[in-house]
Amino acid sequence: MATGKKTNTRTKVEPPQNLLNKWAPRVVILLLVVAICGFLDVIRERFYVFDREHLHQLAKAAIAASPDDTAGMIQHIVTNLTQTYPSNQIKLNVDSSEWVFSNAGGAMGAMYIIHASITEYLIIFGTPLGTEGHTGLHTADDYFHILVGEQWAFSPGALEMERYTPGMVHFLPRGTAKQYKMHEGCFALEYARGWIPLMLPFGLLDIFTSTLDFPSLYHTFRATGREIIRNLLIAKI
Ligand SMILES: *[C@@H]1O[C@H](CO)[C@@H](O)[C@H](O)[C@H]1NC(C)=O
Repeated sequence: MATGKKTNTRTKVEPPQNLLNKWAPRVVILLLVVAICGFLDVIRERFYVFDREHLHQLAKAAIAASPDDTAGMIQHIVTNLTQTYPSNQIKLNVDSSEWVFSNAGGAMGAMYIIHASITEYLIIFGTPLGTEGHTGLHTADDYFHILVGEQWAFSPGALEMERYTPGMVHFLPRGTAKQYKMHEGCFALEYARGWIPLMLPFGLLDIFTSTLDFPSLYHTFRATGREIIRNLLIAKI
């Protein structure tokens, strides 16, 4: 009985009315989804809490307050952020011992997630060894505040490198990519604003194609998921 029915539908030519009934709702849903995504993208700035100028001043103040002391800079940044932002406006992860490996675009370092939500993240990223790779093509604007060491960058067509030193910000607009190198040791305060979940595949794929470091995958998911949910619970998108 069941197999008979299956053969039937496979060979049957559907009348145009049936096709319309089947596809019209799907097309409407698709258009709705596209319209909603487009609308959210237009109003995305409303969801941002961090102020770019404040973060830049804060990175510079942290360097001045604790020269040659990366841990001191990080502490300065986290302390200032917890004093600046009430915990009902944005959730911050103050556990600065929570570091996890990050392998992406061929580059390797470690990160401490200070904040993660749907539209923003703020992390400390770096390595005392140096690393080099592809920035990735992202759905978020990226502001890379150098705290220690140097970051070098290059776009096709340029014949000279861009060079970022402590106190400088390397701004990478969404949709653009560069080759970058954190020459020797380098640590930075990285702030991204845009659609953060869409950045995760780039941040995690190297685990499947190269490192097979599943404990790091687990810890990245756990920390990112926890922070995004903590923020959603106070309606920070
Ligand atoms: C936080 O840092 C900014 C930039 O350095 C500074 O203007 C502000 O006064 C600091 N806030 C606190 C509470 O320390």
